[in-house]
Amino acid sequence: MLREVIVVGDPRLRQRSRKITAITPKIQTLIDDMVETMHQENGVGLAAVQVGELQRIIIVEIPEDENVPLSGRRFIVLNPEIIKSSRATEPGIEGCLSVPGYVGEVERSVSVVVRGMNRHGKPIRLRLKGFAARVFQHEIDHCNGILYIDRLTAPDRIWPVAAGEEEQIEAAQAVPALVA
Ligand code: NI
Repeated sequence: MLREVIVVGDPRLRQRSRKITAITPKIQTLIDDMVETMHQENGVGLAAVQVGELQRIIIVEIPEDENVPLSGRRFIVLNPEIIKSSRATEPGIEGCLSVPGYVGEVERSVSVVVRGMNRHGKPIRLRLKGFAARVFQHEIDHCNGILYIDRLTAPDRIWPVAAGEEEQIEAAQAVPALVA
């Protein structure tokens, strides 16, 4: 079932999501709904808080692109946690379904190690770099009430975009004019 995506101004986006302590049918339904909603909105990632559920669940789906590692892969991670991040960082352009109409420049670690569990409660550990690492950092921020607009490289490094292009995180291909 499609869920409504909440947008900036909604206080829930500023709250810390709760840890998942039991894998229930309700959680499975939420995950299925998140996948459906993310596809409908053409997002590459979605956190449960964005559909109004303060649960530590993220979904990341790397678009099909032969030049991007992990392209076409979908990750569903419960209680995601960054346990290691590279000191090396790089700027990239991000958008967010909860910040409609804008993209902005954010500095992120080039690589991260993420720990959590899959939808069946099995522990997982992911080594990520580049685009995938960026999307995971963005989604895990959501679980902690942080939005990319809190992390702009400078207050003026944010630009309006056409509706529907917001979630083109690291929009090198989607919004070439914005990539310096
Ligand atoms: Ni977002």
